[in-house]
Amino acid sequence: MSLKVDGVIKRYKVRAKKSTISALNGVSLEVKRGETLGIVGESGCGKSTLARLIVGLEPPTEGTLTWNEEVLGKSVRNSLKSHHSKIQLVFQDPYSSLNPRQTIGSCVAEVIKTHQLRAVDQVDSRVTELLSVVGIPMDMKNRFPHQLSGGQRQRVAIARALAAEPDLLVLDEPVSALDVSVRADVMNLLVDLKERFSLTYIFISHDLSMVRHISDEIAVMYLGRIVELGSWSEVLNSPRHPYTRALIDSIPDHTKIQGIDFENVLEGEVPDPANLPNGCAFHLRCPIAKPNCRIEVPALKVAKASHLVACPEVLK
Ligand SMILES: Nc1ncnc2c1ncn2[C@@H]1O[C@H](COP(=O)(O)OP(=O)(O)OP(=O)(O)O)[C@@H](O)[C@H]1O
Ligand SMILES: [Mg+2]
Repeated sequence: MSLKVDGVIKRYKVRAKKSTISALNGVSLEVKRGETLGIVGESGCGKSTLARLIVGLEPPTEGTLTWNEEVLGKSVRNSLKSHHSKIQLVFQDPYSSLNPRQTIGSCVAEVIKTHQLRAVDQVDSRVTELLSVVGIPMDMKNRFPHQLSGGQRQRVAIARALAAEPDLLVLDEPVSALDVSVRADVMNLLVDLKERFSLTYIFISHDLSMVRHISDEIAVMYLGRIVELGSWSEVLNSPRHPYTRALIDSIPDHTKIQGIDFENVLEGEVPDPANLPNGCAFHLRCPIAKPNCRIEVPALKVAKASHLVACPEVLK
């Protein structure tokens, strides 16, 4: 069982500006059952777009996504009602996924009923069970989202995703909006749930230090492309792409990479996805760019077994 993303392109037409935004420019990856793929990259690089495509909220412009050989997202469907129930999304902001006028109990019950996963008289006990799994006491069942703390709301959003009995959870910055003090608790909960329910995770974050503890593999994205992909130890301990090196160099407690000052690289502006530069999208900020980088778009190539890099300069 695995998720395969093959040559996926996603463009948005923005009528008001008469322009086309290229959010994803040819993304291919595979996540095997039981593994966690961490996806990192700066704001606007296409992480949430990829998440929406994987759960079938939007179709790709080009390319295919398959889960266990079954093609996903042929048409736009409501993920709650479609067979995409096996793949669920947890958003950064639990406010956006929880209806403010619905008690948290009925919000979890709704998913069980929609997918007809329990007999009517067993829905209630299933809701209690799911809330207890995520650490929400049953006497909170009749509360509304605004009566909960941010961490509790995200736990409810996780319970709601689990209610669909998924195989794969796409976690889009699940702790970024939370208080620093509760982030570790929610991360630990996610690690426990993965083990307990044999889940597969895609864990999205703009912060490399966040994904390093949870991921088996890491994909680094820049402007709609994966620039580096490999096991977490390869990517974190032997980063090859200059963008990954800059990301790692900017983690405060990380051992500095000697030589070129990669930390300053991230100060430059990310180009506009409606007006991408020719060649490698990173060449404008890259400390090792050569003239050819302005012309050719580098393909992801094997640097080492299970380690791919899209930069001809470091593959020489
Ligand atoms: N529905 C849409 N219409 C037009 N442009 C969009 C749409 N959705 C996303 N985009 C654009 O696509 C690009 C990628 O956006 P996306 O939200 O996937 O990035 P992200 O990596 O999740 O960023 P962040 O870290 O800020 O969440 C951005 O330039 C964004 O403005
Ligand atoms: Mg996002």
